[in-house]
Amino acid sequence: MKGLILSGGKGTRLRPITHTSAKQLIPVANKPILFYSLEAMQEAGIKEVGIVVGDTWKEIKESVGDGNKWNLNITYIHQEAPLGLAHAVMISQDFLGKEPFVMYLGDNILKEGIKRFVNEFERDLPDAQIFVAEVTNPQDFGVVVIKDNRITKLIEKPKKPPSNLALVGVYIFTSQIFEAVKNLKPSWRGEYEITDAINWLLNKKYKVNHLRVKGWWKDTGRPEDLLEANRILLEDITREIKGKVVNSSIKGRVIIEENSTIENSHIRGPVVIGKNCIIKESYIGPFTSINNKCEVIKTELEDCIIMEGSRILDINGRIEESIIGKEVLIKRNDSKRTVKKFVLGDHSIINLD
Ligand code: G1P
Repeated sequence: MKGLILSGGKGTRLRPITHTSAKQLIPVANKPILFYSLEAMQEAGIKEVGIVVGDTWKEIKESVGDGNKWNLNITYIHQEAPLGLAHAVMISQDFLGKEPFVMYLGDNILKEGIKRFVNEFERDLPDAQIFVAEVTNPQDFGVVVIKDNRITKLIEKPKKPPSNLALVGVYIFTSQIFEAVKNLKPSWRGEYEITDAINWLLNKKYKVNHLRVKGWWKDTGRPEDLLEANRILLEDITREIKGKVVNSSIKGRVIIEENSTIENSHIRGPVVIGKNCIIKESYIGPFTSINNKCEVIKTELEDCIIMEGSRILDINGRIEESIIGKEVLIKRNDSKRTVKKFVLGDHSIINLD
């Protein structure tokens, strides 16, 4: 079995972060989202993985490389324009050949991984297999209709969802899918939809099995999803203090990596702090991920994702539920007046009291 990870897409709902960074490389619990899918492939025993890349190909190639880190053999497949998931399958046909493959959307994270999913496929050998999960907002996903334990149809982002079962962004296909995608027309949003391709298989009476996800699953398309995925992943970390701790209290599950210094501060886990950070006279509360080379001075943080090289200095009050990009500087005004000064990129979001 081969793997196909889709890592194109513009990530418009995650602007401004995605103006400068691929959405699949945004760190959650200090690890790029995409790496979770690579780990899942490795754990399921898959060796050959194709990554479909778009405009952000360079950045993705730089961070994943040849896949050696995961014992994977990686092939990059360029998608000229984001024309949909089924289009990504079409352009990957040469790489995939006749073998069945797991297609994994690079912005999805599944706690259980994909091993059970792959094993189940190999046991029954259907023509295709999908993963489904109950959600409270089915209108934001592909929705699955099931009768007598068989899928009857799939609808992409319906206004009036007929069920609360969402199509998870992990699928297994056999080479029948190439016939299906050749017969598609673009949808109302101008994309070749994989849901239409699966409907085509169902209409032609091909066998499409489904499996329910165990544990949690997250499509990290929106800022609130990133924060939730961060919270859930931090729940599972184990305490490991490699950095230097001076006159500070470190409670619960906390990771502090090499060459970081914590001074006169309170850290309450689950928290992860990367390498080469300085935390001084601060409180870092539960569900916070601070990436490498960050500086936090006289500040309270809780439930945040802070990316590499950012500095947060002497802030009044607590910063909560926030996502801070790379090399951001947030500091208190020197002026005695209560003025606010900003230098903000396009699509920035600021909430003031
Ligand atoms: C895509 C699929 C949708 C699926 C979702 C899962 O939507 O089109 O059917 O439910 O992924 O993550 P997108 O996230 O591209 O809007």
